[in-house]
Amino acid sequence: MKAKRYEELVAQVRALIEGEDDAVSVMANVSSLVHETMGFWWTGFYVVKGDALQLGPFQGPVACYRIPRGKGVCGTALERGETIIVPDVEAFPGHIACSSMSRSEIVVPLLSHDGKVLAVLDIDSKELATFDTIDQQYLETIAAAVAPIIEHSK
Ligand code: SME
Repeated sequence: MKAKRYEELVAQVRALIEGEDDAVSVMANVSSLVHETMGFWWTGFYVVKGDALQLGPFQGPVACYRIPRGKGVCGTALERGETIIVPDVEAFPGHIACSSMSRSEIVVPLLSHDGKVLAVLDIDSKELATFDTIDQQYLETIAAAVAPIIEHSK
């Protein structure tokens, strides 16, 4: 059951990042752990740089380097500061297709202590409607665990 796998994943993420303070290293290992554990198609981070998102550590096929604020699912999550679940990427206006294999997607913002978006965790699936509120709940927990490390390594 998905929630059970996520419970274990969250515990593993916490253990993996405990005591670490380098943002790139932590994002690299967290993207690997989430990707390998859950079997996603693409799992990675985009980091806020100026008024856009810059590609950060990820697992999966090559991806777009920069996503402007308000563009695509990631840029929309940046603008809104909240998680976006897209059951069918072709039905999302302005979706940025880094890979034609992606069919559904979830993007979770990583927030600073005062609510600013520092980065987003973007996960893509090759199947339609992969992500629901269970994914949202646990991925937001993971994002909240990683966010302070990004905030403090700046
Ligand atoms: N589909 C995303 C772009 C990033 S890639 O999927 C890795 C978007 O619309 O923001």
